[in-house]
Amino acid sequence: MSASRVLAAPVILGASGLVGGAFLAALRARGAAVRGTYRTQPGPGLDPLDLAGEGAAYLDSVAPSLVILTSALTHVDYCESHPEETHERNVRQLEPIVAWCGRAGVPLVFFSTDYLFDGREGPYDEDTAPHPLNVYGRSKLEGEALVRALGRHAVLRITNVFDIGFDVKNFLIRCLDHLRQRKPLIVPGDQLATPTYATWLAAETLDLLARGAIAAPGTPGVLHLGCDEMISRVDFATRVAAILGADASIVEGKPTAELHQAAPRPLMGGLRNDRLKRLLGVAAIRFDDALADLTPRLREAYRA
Ligand SMILES: NC(=O)c1ccc[n+]([C@@H]2O[C@H](COP(=O)([O-])OP(=O)(O)OC[C@H]3O[C@@H](n4cnc5c(N)ncnc54)[C@H](OP(=O)(O)O)[C@@H]3O)[C@@H](O)[C@H]2O)c1
Repeated sequence: MSASRVLAAPVILGASGLVGGAFLAALRARGAAVRGTYRTQPGPGLDPLDLAGEGAAYLDSVAPSLVILTSALTHVDYCESHPEETHERNVRQLEPIVAWCGRAGVPLVFFSTDYLFDGREGPYDEDTAPHPLNVYGRSKLEGEALVRALGRHAVLRITNVFDIGFDVKNFLIRCLDHLRQRKPLIVPGDQLATPTYATWLAAETLDLLARGAIAAPGTPGVLHLGCDEMISRVDFATRVAAILGADASIVEGKPTAELHQAAPRPLMGGLRNDRLKRLLGVAAIRFDDALADLTPRLREAYRA
């Protein structure tokens, strides 16, 4: 299949979520004949699909040119106490989808995480050996292994994804909620990462797919995509408050050791963008540039 054909009729499995929603919006804006699915959160034009059921039959009926697989169990602390369900939803349910893509010769884009790493020496490049600390990270590593056995695939590792308008639970939305209501926002001060701006992720990924630079023979199978800066959640929330002229004193950083999160977290996580920049010629985005791009939507959401 030629690179230009790949984006003709894509399907997003998990289009009601944060990442899937950003891809759906970007593909619709490009005029692609995109289909998307939801499990519990319906949206305009989305098809119901639970991957516990007939994922392969759905793909037969849609006959997509590309599968964008964003579906996952993503609640990291819930995963820690539900390892069987996590394995079922983040690994076993992928098997028929991966097999379908292999049979049909359709490329698959899959999303993974910096939680593959132990957080001793981030930000990490694609060649670093994974060492996940928690159930969620181990399940994503197993999911990657399934996808990486396919001929045409791209595993895109992302972290602390943020945006407005696609979901109700990402950290930026939480910041807005606390700043608006002047509620204390207690966050880990010692967990650093390179947050991924979903709108940027979707735009750059679609450009890479359109020029055959990923998910095609001879292209990198794994790619890291994050902002070009390591920041903590305290930095994140404080910079959002500054843009809004809101009271940043509600933001309080505490050591991870005092927060008693159910799943162990990597402290120095994050993803290096060198492969993206040097090999694929994509300009990485700084966190402040992402916030600048978001500012009109940020102000509107803050006032709402
Ligand atoms: N968000 C982050 O910070 C982050 C960081 C690193 C990696 N990732 C990875 O990026 C991908 C997307 O994450 P996200 O934040 O967009 O997740 P999300 O907002 O939780 O969305 C998950 C999507 O998957 C659907 N889904 C979940 N279980 C399903 C099932 N069994 N069958 C069918 N659909 C199912 C959900 O449908 P309903 O909502 O309709 O139920 C939703 O559309 C995941 O693979 C995640 O591991 C995310």
